[in-house]
Amino acid sequence: MESRRTFLKKSALIGAAATLPAIPSGCTISTIEANTSIEPRKINTAAVVWYSQTGNTQKCGKVLAKTFEKTGITVINGEVRDVDRIKISEVDLLVIGAPVFYYDIPDFVKDYIQSLPDLKGTPVAAYVTFGGPEGNQHNAACSILEGLVQKQGVPVGLKAFMTISSYALNFKASDKEISPKPKAILPDQNTYKNVRAYAEFLNSEVEQGHTSVFKKTLTSREFSTYFGPEWWTKLLVGNHTIIEEKCVGCGTCVEKCPTDSIDLDTFTVNTDNCVLCCGCINNCEYQAVNMEYSKEKIIGFKEFLKKNNLKFELPVELRT
Ligand SMILES: Cc1cc2nc3c(=O)[nH]c(=O)nc-3n(C[C@H](O)[C@H](O)[C@H](O)COP(=O)(O)O)c2cc1C
Ligand code: SF4
Ligand code: SF4
Repeated sequence: MESRRTFLKKSALIGAAATLPAIPSGCTISTIEANTSIEPRKINTAAVVWYSQTGNTQKCGKVLAKTFEKTGITVINGEVRDVDRIKISEVDLLVIGAPVFYYDIPDFVKDYIQSLPDLKGTPVAAYVTFGGPEGNQHNAACSILEGLVQKQGVPVGLKAFMTISSYALNFKASDKEISPKPKAILPDQNTYKNVRAYAEFLNSEVEQGHTSVFKKTLTSREFSTYFGPEWWTKLLVGNHTIIEEKCVGCGTCVEKCPTDSIDLDTFTVNTDNCVLCCGCINNCEYQAVNMEYSKEKIIGFKEFLKKNNLKFELPVELRT
């Protein structure tokens, strides 16, 4: 049977096609603004929660949290599924972070935001990490705020931090190395400096009782999200299975899979349910997840980093 999400995507596709001639590129498709104002206030408690698959969004989230803590704020922080929803709705500032996947935030982050209780005028902020300059990152970050405003959050900030892309479908096993080599291995110290500055900005906005208005604009990338790019990309993916001989049964892929699509008893992947997030192949330490894209074998992010001798520098806050 067709899932509700697939049905909505198809409906959106038909709707988008019908309105295409009427929407000029660059026009505002949604304005994200507060339903209520906020009083200037000192932040005593904050929550910084994120979804992160390969660690970039997590590292930025931890630096945000540590920067708030330095100013005496008590911070709840962690992965979205590990943090108590009620507790994070009772703080003085809620920040949610996500990677950009297929020009938007992952659907399960949207679902998570929808599952939050009423935020009753809590100041809210968003950040995304993204792998390419044309990744539709502003609109993706707007998607976080849109959901939070529907929950009666009051938007105070939005930021995007560029990283090395973890999009495994680009990592061909046959490639000797990446070319051209990236100039910087992002996130780097400059990224973390910007993350700290963002924390300070948010703190000051809430202290002054400022709110912000953000606009999602129509871009070709945004338009493509109406077509469910992951579902179309999946048409080119083959042999997505677990290699029994290599698998050590550690369970990491199962833990990372947002759709429960991996069965380690049969070493199979339910490719109908799979949303092509690459969580399995990107996190398996044993190269036991098999995937082909356009008939070429691909490798995961960890193997890609190793193969190209790419090493991240940790921010000072996270060095032990
Ligand atoms: C399935 C998938 C889709 C992605 N799609 C995009 C995209 O549309 N635009 C972009 O700029 N980066 C894209 N990326 C790159 C990630 O946004 C980027 O590497 C991010 O920092 C990963 O965050 P994480 O390490 O916290 O998981 C994608 C990565 C994956 C795995
Ligand atoms: S992460 Fe890799 S080794 Fe671990 S259970 Fe999954 S496929 Fe097997
Ligand atoms: S099986 Fe699909 S949805 Fe699950 S982690 Fe792998 S790519 Fe993501």
